[in-house]
Amino acid sequence: MMRALRFERFGAADVLHVAEVAEPVPGAGQAKVRVHAASLNPLDWKIRAGHLRFVPAGRPPRGLGCDFAGEIVGTGGGATARHIGERVFGSVSPFARAGAFAEYVVANHDQLATIPDSLDFAEAAALPVAAGTAVQALINVASVAAGQRVLVTGAAGGVGHFAVQVAKHRQAWVAGVCSTRNVDFVRLLGADEVQDYTRQDFTRGDGRFDIVFDAACASSFAAVRQVLAPAGIYISTAGSAGAAIDTALRGVFARLTSTQRAIPFALKGGERLWQRLAEFAAAGALRPHVEREIALEDVPAALESMEAGHGRGKIVALMGVN
Ligand SMILES: NC(=O)c1ccc[n+]([C@@H]2O[C@H](COP(=O)([O-])OP(=O)(O)OC[C@H]3O[C@@H](n4cnc5c(N)ncnc54)[C@H](OP(=O)(O)O)[C@@H]3O)[C@@H](O)[C@H]2O)c1
Repeated sequence: MMRALRFERFGAADVLHVAEVAEPVPGAGQAKVRVHAASLNPLDWKIRAGHLRFVPAGRPPRGLGCDFAGEIVGTGGGATARHIGERVFGSVSPFARAGAFAEYVVANHDQLATIPDSLDFAEAAALPVAAGTAVQALINVASVAAGQRVLVTGAAGGVGHFAVQVAKHRQAWVAGVCSTRNVDFVRLLGADEVQDYTRQDFTRGDGRFDIVFDAACASSFAAVRQVLAPAGIYISTAGSAGAAIDTALRGVFARLTSTQRAIPFALKGGERLWQRLAEFAAAGALRPHVEREIALEDVPAALESMEAGHGRGKIVALMGVN
């Protein structure tokens, strides 16, 4: 048996509880991972609250959590380069009924990557969804290039703090948008300019940006067009169905009427992306900031505080901590 976070109905933080459940058994092509650390993402509380209730596979009763890091303790057979004892990290599907806030997870071999020696388990668990989003949105989708001007909203948050680092690694000029308490933190990440949104509205500034990465999903294409270059790209993390639809529709219209683009981002994770994150981290281009390490029992309250939308870096649950 193992300890795992579970919930039986959609609702507020109090629907979550730690339960004793059977340990998962790996099938062919899968590995059983002893979870040392699992990081929190806003997606977790959105699933708990029922924002994705239209996906039948994701309905309770079920576990919660996607991102994890740990060591392989068993495999289910099949050809694989993975081995018992290997330090790995990855992310389980948000629609899997067994989540990563548990002492063990089972994952397909192609959902895992090896943890670089430079990272501990908490730092590795901080990577998949947040850093994967930053890398895929800025590099794969927006093709960020040296000398471009990039603005990142939510620059102190899980996604944003990685996005600032990715854009700087690509030698872009970066403006980070955050609240007063995070100004120094975002500057330390390497941002060339930090805008405090409690004092100034970046959509009314004089600057023009090649890429606006709305990591906080705090703005809209309509609002940022004035500060987008003529061929500029607005990418939103589309934190709600409404934001995704708005950005998609405006993106279609923008393509017909201008050279600007609006893109609602949706992460496509997996081994190749996790491997890329590991390489960036090993090279020092991505430095996960773990703001807080908590116990499994503290995850419900931490997710509740995350709902306010003012996180700094990542919060990570350590499975060995009570
Ligand atoms: N589509 C996808 O595939 C995908 C993938 C990953 C994440 N997401 C979504 O992306 C969003 C952000 O995720 P996250 O992990 O970065 O969350 P997070 O760690 O909670 O960070 C959110 C950040 O937004 C900042 N913020 C709040 N209001 C703001 C405003 N008006 N202007 C600028 N910044 C503001 C907060 O900073 P301050 O404290 O400084 O306000 C905080 O640092 C969530 O909605 C998440 O669900 C989507």
